[in-house]
Amino acid sequence: MPTPCEVDTTFRLDTQQAEDLARQFGTPLYVLTETCLRQRIRAYKHAFEASAERTQLCYASKANSTLGVIKIAHEEGCRIDVASEGELRAAIAAGVPAGDCEFHGSNKHPDELLFALESGIHAINVDNFEEIEHLSSLWQLRYTTKLVLRLAPGVDPITHEKIATGQEDSKFGFNISDGSAERAVLLTMKFKLHLVGFHCHVGSQLLDPEAQAAGAEALARFALRMLESHGFEAQVLNFGGGLGIPYTKDDSPLPVIEYCRRLADGVSNVLGETSLKPLLMQEPGRALVGEAGLTLYQVGVVKEVPVAGGTRVYVSVDGGLADNPRPALYGAEYTVERVSPVTESGLKRCTVSGRHCETDELFPNVLLPNDIAQGDLLQVLCTGAYNSSMASNYNRYPRPATVLLTTEGTTRLLQRQETWDEMFAREIV
Ligand SMILES: Cc1ncc(COP(=O)(O)O)c(C=O)c1O
Repeated sequence: MPTPCEVDTTFRLDTQQAEDLARQFGTPLYVLTETCLRQRIRAYKHAFEASAERTQLCYASKANSTLGVIKIAHEEGCRIDVASEGELRAAIAAGVPAGDCEFHGSNKHPDELLFALESGIHAINVDNFEEIEHLSSLWQLRYTTKLVLRLAPGVDPITHEKIATGQEDSKFGFNISDGSAERAVLLTMKFKLHLVGFHCHVGSQLLDPEAQAAGAEALARFALRMLESHGFEAQVLNFGGGLGIPYTKDDSPLPVIEYCRRLADGVSNVLGETSLKPLLMQEPGRALVGEAGLTLYQVGVVKEVPVAGGTRVYVSVDGGLADNPRPALYGAEYTVERVSPVTESGLKRCTVSGRHCETDELFPNVLLPNDIAQGDLLQVLCTGAYNSSMASNYNRYPRPATVLLTTEGTTRLLQRQETWDEMFAREIV
């Protein structure tokens, strides 16, 4: 298995593979490739390690918390970032010790905190004063868990507003500029909590490093100020989520090696020759798993409707916002291809729509072959992140299966399609 920083192109299936998988497992179907997944993780890890002396990569399991995926990320040396008790339970069920997990969340329930502490979680990312107070009441139980404060560094990244989180007007973290972050440090010191450092996550799907680097430098400046003003020595600086991915040909993320170097250099410029030598951390989700996955759909109805200046072609597929809510949530775009090759009939502009009782415009404005027809298979690339983990049962559709194409060339079911019995198992008539 190669370990260079650059890895081969986005995962797609050929016609035979796609038809075999659709026949065996049905559609819609999430398909992951183990080779690409491991390559992406190794490439990111290698790039980060090459950029600074002490680094640790975490996998943001919210991106895809299928147990098989968490297991692979852990095998590749990642700690696991969990954002709920459910995600922590998923990590534990995947065989990851809680001592290799970090717990995030802007409104953690006291029961979740207790479960995490009792499980022996490695670190808790503390978001607010209520959480500090609550942890201080539990601390008499002498937990060894480390605490990291999530800070709002006042960085407004260029990305969709729904995935921008580094600005001051945000529910996440302690504001640096209004003094909340400093008060939080003093409070943890007063309660003698095991504070080890600082975290920020300025936003997701960032294709260049400037916003993330600004966040990282703000953390480093803050850490230095806490050392000088209060003698608090930060051992950890965590810059949050990772690099964006090429969902479409218009997205060109910086090579990961340059990205990591830019972040690490920014921190080292701020800390210079001071005594602070923190462990640098990142917790990418989509950059590790996004490109390793695709979704297969089968085309049903194809309909032409008159619109001003022409016609619109609606190509309906047997999935939609229940298996991929990102287009409806924030207009996310993807690369959509027919599995069987384009014939001589050429291409036409289509709107791929989902089957749910909403407009469910999955992919407006994609080019598909002129002879697209019922029964054709479509593959949507880069759906390994935030698709299966965000799936719902809207309109009572069962959630799709996930299969893994292993490095040995076999096909392994990671998660089977939900059954009707499971769908109604929680209900009492
Ligand atoms: C705190 C935190 N860390 C990491 C991530 C992962 O982000 P990405 O998948 O863009 O790398 C997120 C995404 O929402 C996040 O909120």
